[in-house]
Amino acid sequence: MDKMIVSGGRALRGEVRVSGAKNSALPILFSTILAEGAHKFTNLPNLKDIESTAELLASLGCICSRDGDIFSVTNKGINNFEAHYDLVRKMRASILCLGPLLARYGEAVVSMPGGCAIGSRPIDLHLDSMKALGAEIELREGYVMAKAKRLKGARILFESVTVGGTENLMMAATLAEGKTLIENAAKEPEIVDLAEYLISMGAKISGHGSSIIEIDGVEKLRAAEHRIIPDRIEAGTLLIAAAITHGDVTIQDCRPDHLEALLLKLKECGFQMQIGKTDIHIASQKTWKAVDITTAPFPLFPTDLQAQYMALMTAAEGTSVISETVFENRFMHVQELIRLGADISPKTRVAVVRGVKPGGLTGAPVMATDLRASACLVLAGLAAHGDTLINRIYHLDRGYEKLETKLSHLGGKINRVS
Ligand code: UD1
Repeated sequence: MDKMIVSGGRALRGEVRVSGAKNSALPILFSTILAEGAHKFTNLPNLKDIESTAELLASLGCICSRDGDIFSVTNKGINNFEAHYDLVRKMRASILCLGPLLARYGEAVVSMPGGCAIGSRPIDLHLDSMKALGAEIELREGYVMAKAKRLKGARILFESVTVGGTENLMMAATLAEGKTLIENAAKEPEIVDLAEYLISMGAKISGHGSSIIEIDGVEKLRAAEHRIIPDRIEAGTLLIAAAITHGDVTIQDCRPDHLEALLLKLKECGFQMQIGKTDIHIASQKTWKAVDITTAPFPLFPTDLQAQYMALMTAAEGTSVISETVFENRFMHVQELIRLGADISPKTRVAVVRGVKPGGLTGAPVMATDLRASACLVLAGLAAHGDTLINRIYHLDRGYEKLETKLSHLGGKINRVS
């Protein structure tokens, strides 16, 4: 199992390009189930989660291939409707094949994703919304067995905001009979990206990006082409990497308008930034103020940047309070940060972080527990004196394209060891 050694204490400098968004790419790849033909994507990141999705699509009968910057999914008709446990357990987002399979083929057998490190993450909202469109759903032997003749449009009010639930429902509703209204829909940029691809396939969708999405079902969709949006979480991670190392970095090919909550907080901390249309320059800063955050659905502070932001707060001047409202168990990185010398008191969903003086963190062996926690430990390692040995680094490969290459290019010292 690969490990990573991060030798800290170097300021990052230079320019770095952001890759395509994992969380856009995954639902968009699953949407290819909805239409036969050759779907073509650019800016699709090269990641373990993309490989897992391609494997799942291949098991259903699609052909996935990469040629330079073009990733193609050729759908010649699905001949298997089962997403097997072995594939689903690798990646929770596999549940996103449920809506497209049901809408296009009237049948889906999808393994239940089970728990994961950051909480129980149930799929009840996905299932309820499929039932509201007329699907019959049974849970048997660890699988969701779903059947429907033709789905029928309906009004669905999500009792809490769910990104994956909104995506599954939006995809299913594109081929349903009549109109579907999704209320309390997620507003994330990845929802908008998916909606835009579905529209280019011939779907009739409006309101995406707001909390009410309206979909007029059509008889048929066709394969199309699309460029995936830049990854806002990767951009935010790189920005925090620059900040925590007193670096001077320009983040290129990103969407600053997708990162406003983080940019506001960094400004409040005292960081100087120049924000262009597709790039952000952050200037070197000796010290920064502690500033509280509360995670919440877009456009508020993303839970996927909470761990990385906490690393930054461990070296801030003063005390900050970090509240996690999206997932019930997303402080697994706290104990690891404490091993590096951080001063944090965690409760269930709130952590009080007392900044140690810059350079106060020291390297130690730590354990990565999930994707964003791994990124948090890399950032803390870059800021710490000495070497940080990060175990279970495979989490990082699920969601960051060439992170160590990018950070090394900026002057960070990172080595992967088998
Ligand atoms: C997506 C992102 C993930 C991000 C999360 C929140 C992808 C592939 N993953 O995950 O990186 O952290 O959004 O921004 O895009 N919930 C239920 N029942 C359901 C569905 C969700 O109770 O049926 C709960 C979850 O347990 C969680 C909350 O709703 O507490 C939000 O989850 P959701 O927005 O659905 O997250 P994901 O789509 O899984």
